[in-house]
Amino acid sequence: MTNTHRSLQSRDVPHSSNTIWHNATVTRERREKLNGHRSILVWFTGLSGSGKSTLAHTVEEQLHQRECRTIVLDGDNVRYGLCGDLGFSDVDRVENIRRIGEVCNLFLEAGNIVLTAFISPFKKDRQQVKKLVNEENFIQVYCKCAVEVCEKRDVKGHYKRAREGKIKNFTGISAPYEEPDADLVIETDTVPLAESADLVVELLQKRGILD
Ligand code: ADX
Repeated sequence: MTNTHRSLQSRDVPHSSNTIWHNATVTRERREKLNGHRSILVWFTGLSGSGKSTLAHTVEEQLHQRECRTIVLDGDNVRYGLCGDLGFSDVDRVENIRRIGEVCNLFLEAGNIVLTAFISPFKKDRQQVKKLVNEENFIQVYCKCAVEVCEKRDVKGHYKRAREGKIKNFTGISAPYEEPDADLVIETDTVPLAESADLVVELLQKRGILD
């Protein structure tokens, strides 16, 4: 197992006063060795209704069957509790992704394959997360789906309400989405779910995360 991360301690970040970092003896490498796979962050980004969560959970199912340690962090769920105080202004979305990045870092340290499903509309924020976890720990998957298709699906009825002006700052309608230079682009409006999941798992194999 290769050492692909630096200690969390070495990060130059704001911290509370009078706190001293405690180093663990059970390290990420030791957990990775126990797990039999590396930890990695697979960051799914795309419009609401583009299939991020469905794909992340389908990939997780495959990985779980291979006895990998996994966790899915999903936009709607994380906004209960951890980010429940945040809305959808630009400032709040930035903070949402910042907190999630920190949580991802902890899960990486815990040896997990972390699959996230957040719109994460801003390039800069996704880049921040990549920097935070170190680029070798970050795989970005763009669930590319035309807004017209997302709107037609409208699983949650959000697009209709956004068009009626009942939801403000709705991504793709009244708020921006910046397309990424992703490691993997999946056209989720045309590629079937099972095939999409296979593409992600294949990439994990290619990157040496799985055997
Ligand atoms: S992000 O932009 O900050 O990354 P996040 O992924 O956490 O968004 O949350 C997106 C989910 O919140 C959507 O799938 C949708 O169910 C819900 N939502 C509620 N209001 C909005 C809005 N104004 N824009 C986008 N999604 C919204």
